[in-house]
Amino acid sequence: MWTCITEFFTYETTKSVVVKSWTIGIINRVVQLLIITYFIGWVFVYEKAYQIRDTAIESSVMTKVKGFGLYNNRVMDVAEYVTPSQGASVFCIITKLITTENQVQGYCPESEMKYKCTHDNNCTKFLNKPGGNGLPTGRCVRFNDTLNTCEIRGWCPAEIDYIKTHPMMEVENFTIFIKNSIRFPLFNFTKGNFLPTITPQYIKACNFDHENNTYCPIFRVGDVIRYAHQNFTTLAQKGGVIGIKIGWMCDLDKSEDECNPSYSFTRLDAMSEKNSVSPGYNFRYAEYYKMDNGTDYRTLLNAVCILFFSPLFSSTLFSPLLISSIPFYSTTLFSFSALDWSQGTVLCDIILLNFLKGAEQYKARKFEEVSDTQIEDSLSSNGLYRSREFIGVEKQSNDSGAFSIGQYG
Ligand SMILES: *[C@@H]1O[C@H](CO)[C@@H](O)[C@H](O)[C@H]1NC(C)=O
Repeated sequence: MWTCITEFFTYETTKSVVVKSWTIGIINRVVQLLIITYFIGWVFVYEKAYQIRDTAIESSVMTKVKGFGLYNNRVMDVAEYVTPSQGASVFCIITKLITTENQVQGYCPESEMKYKCTHDNNCTKFLNKPGGNGLPTGRCVRFNDTLNTCEIRGWCPAEIDYIKTHPMMEVENFTIFIKNSIRFPLFNFTKGNFLPTITPQYIKACNFDHENNTYCPIFRVGDVIRYAHQNFTTLAQKGGVIGIKIGWMCDLDKSEDECNPSYSFTRLDAMSEKNSVSPGYNFRYAEYYKMDNGTDYRTLLNAVCILFFSPLFSSTLFSPLLISSIPFYSTTLFSFSALDWSQGTVLCDIILLNFLKGAEQYKARKFEEVSDTQIEDSLSSNGLYRSREFIGVEKQSNDSGAFSIGQYG
């Protein structure tokens, strides 16, 4: 019991033993060299772990489409084929339009073949179910000279959306102008995709390409689709979603001029490429009018469009020489000393105390027990004991991790 208590009330302090042995000395230095090489070479130079990454980017994207198209014998301008018209980062260029004019509220036959009928009995099954173009009434009525279809109540006449139309091929030559401005709030760094080297003359004439005009902010629709590995005709026929990604990977260790946008293009709805169910992208909208007698009528438009979406992906890196990163820098050094240097020590200790010739001797030197009585004895007999110990401590600390860190830091 008493032994337990005395064992518990003890204090353990680290004692440094300088081992003058070639074997362990070489192992120690090699391990240290490996650790330093790892840190300097991999962590600092290659991975740049000392840098801070700002991902909370603030940005704006504005777009403008230019070009004229011919569709159904009429010229289409931007106001007609781009929707929404605000020039935001998401916009749609209409490539195909099915218009159903002069629709009014009333009763009329369905237009789809699925609703073909010869008798009212064929139509009752559609009751209380959503129809193609309106609410089914359960009656079979005349559609044209050869065909009867089930009647609906809704906007009439019903849209015929299966007629074959050709897409507006001029879209291929339309251009998209993108104005992008970014700010990294952490470093208060601002930049835009209009690089200082770009002149007004250049902007008027350039078209983006991956070789010579990598920073031209004007993109030909046909090129964008080609860079996204798509076929323009197919895409214009069915519609789809194309992403124009703007990347800002800036290393502020380097000059500001090297912080430039990079553009990449992908088809975002890649799933509908492979899937024949609901391929592409289309949507309906209507323009409403009023007759003299107050009745509403409308033009229904069914548009197939290519949706362009310009997201940003970005991050920036920061220089270690600047004040704000010093806390981070010192943390790295802390982990350097506490963790990695001690790993070298642990390895050497294992070898020294277990595998080296004379391991028992080393063990005895390393773990020493000192009690008050021993110290008092030696004090009374030999006053030199203390001062010798101090000299020893100072000498040994030359090789301790903390001192070396000071040198490397
Ligand atoms: C697009 O422009 C090129 C060159 O200006 C022209 O040869 C081509 O016919 C145009 N394509 C369409 C679909 O208008």
